[in-house]
Amino acid sequence: MAKKTEKKIKLRSAEWFGRQDEYGFIYRSWTKNRGIPQDQFEGKPVIGICNTFSETTPCNSHFRGLAEQVKMGVLENGGFPLEFPVMSLGESLLRPTAMLYRNLASMDVEESIRGNPIDGVILLVGCDKTTPALLMGAASVDVPAIAVSGGPMLNGRYKGQTLGSGTSVWQMREDLYAGRMKLAEFHEAEACTHRSHGHCMTMGTASTMASMVEALGIGMPGNAAYPAVDARRNLIARDAGRRIVDLVKEGVKITDILTRPAFENAIRTLAAIGGSTNAVVHLIAIAKRLGVKLELDDFDDLGRGVHTLLDLMPSGRFLMEDFCYAGGLPVVLRTLGEEGLLHKKAMTVNGKTIWENNKKAECYNKEVITEWKKPFKKNTGIAVLRGNLAPDGAIIKPSAATPKLMKHKGRAIVFENFEDLHKKLNDPKLDIDENSVMVLKNCGPKGYPGFAEVGNMPLHPKLSKKGITDMVRISDARMSGTAYGTVVLHVAPEAAAGGPLALVKTGDMIELDVEKRRLHLDVSEEELAKRRAKWKAPKPALDRGYWKLYIGHVNQANEGADLDFLVGKSGAFVPRDNH
Ligand code: FES
Repeated sequence: MAKKTEKKIKLRSAEWFGRQDEYGFIYRSWTKNRGIPQDQFEGKPVIGICNTFSETTPCNSHFRGLAEQVKMGVLENGGFPLEFPVMSLGESLLRPTAMLYRNLASMDVEESIRGNPIDGVILLVGCDKTTPALLMGAASVDVPAIAVSGGPMLNGRYKGQTLGSGTSVWQMREDLYAGRMKLAEFHEAEACTHRSHGHCMTMGTASTMASMVEALGIGMPGNAAYPAVDARRNLIARDAGRRIVDLVKEGVKITDILTRPAFENAIRTLAAIGGSTNAVVHLIAIAKRLGVKLELDDFDDLGRGVHTLLDLMPSGRFLMEDFCYAGGLPVVLRTLGEEGLLHKKAMTVNGKTIWENNKKAECYNKEVITEWKKPFKKNTGIAVLRGNLAPDGAIIKPSAATPKLMKHKGRAIVFENFEDLHKKLNDPKLDIDENSVMVLKNCGPKGYPGFAEVGNMPLHPKLSKKGITDMVRISDARMSGTAYGTVVLHVAPEAAAGGPLALVKTGDMIELDVEKRRLHLDVSEEELAKRRAKWKAPKPALDRGYWKLYIGHVNQANEGADLDFLVGKSGAFVPRDNH
């Protein structure tokens, strides 16, 4: 519950700045080197601005400006802002995959907040992994916090066509491979696709997580959809800067906002927006930091019967800019509330309940945000599959899949790892047809390593040329939120951990039945036991440093792929140093 009246809160920062001895001198004096006046150290809430600005994270490259807006808001409301950088994770450049470093960045965030004189924190998040990393880190400290997303880019435009991040790239990739697009056109389309600041403007992982921030109530209303270059994005940052000062004074911590009902609201919202499958892993990881019980099956149970309302890429036609002009996430939350699918009393960081914030939302374009009675897609959500191929679960996003492939039996074509996939896709003689089931191993959390977004394997060029656009694909990998197809993901346990996926051989028959939530490998237990006896864990490419720590401690997909020793929270207490 939010505390609307100011409490007598003892500020953490007083342990540093409130001291009137030689150490208080040290804490204040060094900080004053920027011209900070004495009154800033006299009982004002210190607000950390946790910034993921980096030129290696193009989606967050405008965050210096956003941080300035936050600072002004903090100052306007009587706080003292202190900006600090944390590891930034850029999806487009970082190898082998940004997900490998999500947990590392979360450690950076956690320790930076706990170790410094910070009373409350603004989390500047944008590109995919920056949102969960910062929420996970802040959750483990449990201070007052507001997440401010950087906002999506403007719609891509090329030769009169609308282009969406990722989604259009995968389409153009198929066109290039099939000879329908020239290389020069491919290059020209690059600057036309990503033509403004911001993160991917499809309903990919970044936009999904920005929507989760709003639905969880840990972000300000409107957080999901205002484009990065829209004045209202700056207003959100400014308002958040003002509001976090109040949250500190009211003593409202992350655990007061991110409750089980808030997560249930987020899961139903995820289904209603047709959001990225990556949110499943991230929400579980955040919940486990907080001690909120959240399991893989919650996504299937809570998302069942929820319709996808948004006609947005990758499943549909429009983009985040269109979503913003149509009314944004408040319309979706209002609709869920009207259908009895929202915990209306869940408290949000602006001091109002989720229902108070959204009950009057108006829709300005029913093609983009469809009505509950005439939804874009019916009964979607995330389906959790189980069977002898995925004893601990696997997921599929039905709204991105081809309906006729949702029940399918086919012969497995196995790729032992990502390199093997590329080698075999370059082999014109590969024995594969459109009824085959593509199986990719060793791309889960421990494999690859880092749980890469390679689950939407490219189709073999000979099938693309035939006009085939989708096939059943199964892996322990993730899939970019901007991707689509009948793609079974997050198979757990993964192949590199010795899961049954490791035992599949080319020629085995595999059955997928999404309606029955079944994923079955048609091979006898005796045969699987023989194969298991011969199985050896793959050797990682690097066996030192963070990679070693990560591979040795990462949990499986169904548990959020966090490091086992990071699950849970330790709070904001930090032992005093020798001062
Ligand atoms: Fe940053 Fe897509 S690459 S959000």
